[in-house]
Amino acid sequence: MSAIVVEHLSKFYEVHHKEPGLFGSLKSLFRRQYRQVEAVKDISFNIEPGEIVGFLGPNGAGKTTTLKMLAGLLYPSSGKISVLGFVPFEREPSFLKSITLVMGQKNQLIWDLPPMETFLLNKAIYELSDADFRASLEEFSELLDLNPLLKKQVRKLSLGERMKCELTAALLHRPSVLFLDEPTIGLDITMQRKIHDFIREYNKRHGATVLLTSHYMKDVVALCKRILVINEGRILYDGSLDDLVEKIAPYKVLKMTLEKPYSSDQLQTVGEIEHFENGKAIVKVPRREAASVTATLLNELKIKDMVIEEPSVEEIIVQIFSGEYTTY
Ligand SMILES: Nc1ncnc2c1ncn2[C@@H]1O[C@H](COP(=O)(O)OP(=O)(O)OP(=O)(O)O)[C@@H](O)[C@H]1O
Ligand SMILES: [Mg+2]
Repeated sequence: MSAIVVEHLSKFYEVHHKEPGLFGSLKSLFRRQYRQVEAVKDISFNIEPGEIVGFLGPNGAGKTTTLKMLAGLLYPSSGKISVLGFVPFEREPSFLKSITLVMGQKNQLIWDLPPMETFLLNKAIYELSDADFRASLEEFSELLDLNPLLKKQVRKLSLGERMKCELTAALLHRPSVLFLDEPTIGLDITMQRKIHDFIREYNKRHGATVLLTSHYMKDVVALCKRILVINEGRILYDGSLDDLVEKIAPYKVLKMTLEKPYSSDQLQTVGEIEHFENGKAIVKVPRREAASVTATLLNELKIKDMVIEEPSVEEIIVQIFSGEYTTY
């Protein structure tokens, strides 16, 4: 059975619409006007137990709205959701004990107290036994190196330290489904890596299902084999990250340094030149011909150095967002 099943899910927000100026204010006193924002439009997908899926899309695409519906915080306008067999919006205690929602931009930690106080509060909320609480805390302390942080006031923690504690607070009850909304926002690369390692390890140890949004492609490449791409409330792509790269970018990137005399004549015949300056060249060549082109160039030109790279995932995602790609 899939851990998460979403069928024809939509969410429309009713927003109060006021015309500008005093007249607009007066008018809206008598007759309120509403406008509908269609945040999520008829999306469907399944996620299997233990999968880590990246949920990508530009600002305002509908990611947070979808996660909130999956976590039972928002009622869908239409469609069906099942998470571990539960209907999220019914908010059954056993559902709430099986999931967690972490939002990178919001914190649940009590600001003026040490993080331990929030952990104890969550222990009570989730009705954890002393033994389970201690075991979780020990496990996360070890993985995230929490010991130096436990007694500091939350307000005095750095952003990265706070994120470690946020994750701990959110996972103490060992949920099996994790909704992570930009868990690495604002963090430096070292801290991003620590969070990746932690999420991967938690997934491995506890077989947890993870749906994660991020604007950092590094998160997605590090953690997710599969991605869902959403734009303007609709799913544009659902599949493996590798397939996406092959399908959308049917080329590879050759980066090379030539010896004098520099000439781009030969390069022009094998692919599209992206950059050519002082003997340094970047050329996009058709994926299937990458090997033969490389051999030819090495044979016929004086090349000091050459590497073949996949196009960056960022570039590909931008291409999808811009609407150049729509096959779904
Ligand atoms: N409470 C709300 N009331 C009205 N409109 C809303 C509300 N929350 C979100 N929206 C609108 O719904 C759309 C989707 O928003 P959502 O927050 O789901 O996007 P997102 O993909 O999470 O974007 P981001 O990457 O910026 O976090 C946007 O147009 C947003 O303005
Ligand atoms: Mg969001």
